Amino acid sequence: MWKRTKEKKEEGRAGASPEDRGPGKGLRRAIVAGVKISCRRRWKRRAAEVLLMALVSVAMFFFGRYLSCNDLEVTFHHLSSPRVAAGTNTRLVVLSDLHNREFGPDNRDLTRQIAALKPDLIIMAGDMVNAWEDNLDPILNLCGDLLEIAPIYYGPGNHENYLFYEKGSDLEAQLLEKGVHVLVNRAESVTVNRTGFLIGGLTTAVDGYEEYGAEFIEEYEKSKDFKLLIAHYPSLYYEALADTQIDLGICGHFHGGLVRLPFVGGIYHGDTGFFPKYSGGMYRLPHSTIFVSRGMEDHSGFPRINNRPELAVIDINGRQETEFSR
Ligand SMILES: [Fe+2]
Repeated sequence: MWKRTKEKKEEGRAGASPEDRGPGKGLRRAIVAGVKISCRRRWKRRAAEVLLMALVSVAMFFFGRYLSCNDLEVTFHHLSSPRVAAGTNTRLVVLSDLHNREFGPDNRDLTRQIAALKPDLIIMAGDMVNAWEDNLDPILNLCGDLLEIAPIYYGPGNHENYLFYEKGSDLEAQLLEKGVHVLVNRAESVTVNRTGFLIGGLTTAVDGYEEYGAEFIEEYEKSKDFKLLIAHYPSLYYEALADTQIDLGICGHFHGGLVRLPFVGGIYHGDTGFFPKYSGGMYRLPHSTIFVSRGMEDHSGFPRINNRPELAVIDINGRQETEFSR
């Protein structure tokens, strides 16, 4: 028996390649087989991970799309200022980039939510309409309803500017007739809770700032009141307004960067490319504080992801700010 086994081993060695001969052959084969099994398992695990990631991405896309379409997010912010009368709080509700969208029939859901927030002032930071639409009823009806809650201060965006100056629309006249404070490179004073506010509206983008905005801002900056400036374009604060003393600037336009990543912020806007500097939230600048609304509608047909339509509340009082956005 021992002899036969030995002969078989010898036969095997005779037919084997030189590499297979010698001690350790079994071990090498075992290692090769083990490596093959391990590779197969790793490949299967990798495929399962890729499949899972694809499923999660698809689910997130549709979930984000759903949120973007239907679900308003009310965000709360505050800032303190020595210009605000001690022991008082003034509440702003900020809307921007509605683009004729309606939340509920005739914007009743939006109006109800704003009423529940009990604002002192309602701020509209531009692009509340679409330049290509002639029907002004959605914004006029909304303003009519909101004026029963609080005064409205309206700073035009690029879509209003197109209607005002290119299309010859009478939107500005109709808003003024309703009692909306439409601010076209001018400011109005108002006293709320014993605090004097000078609310300005700057309509120009960066390109036209020197021609249309610089003179107004030079005068505006001299005021000792709380300066609240509605300027649709956040990029004005990159340079043109970077050194301007503004107590609170309110902007829109970037739509939150459309897709928002945690700890990063908005990904994209056509004006600035990837990662716009101020894509949404409160920002402390060297000479001012600005709030950039994420807006309420998609942009150019591109969906908002992780970026719900925003209805912002800003309380201006003596409390200390705790956090600012990235
Ligand atoms: Fe917009």
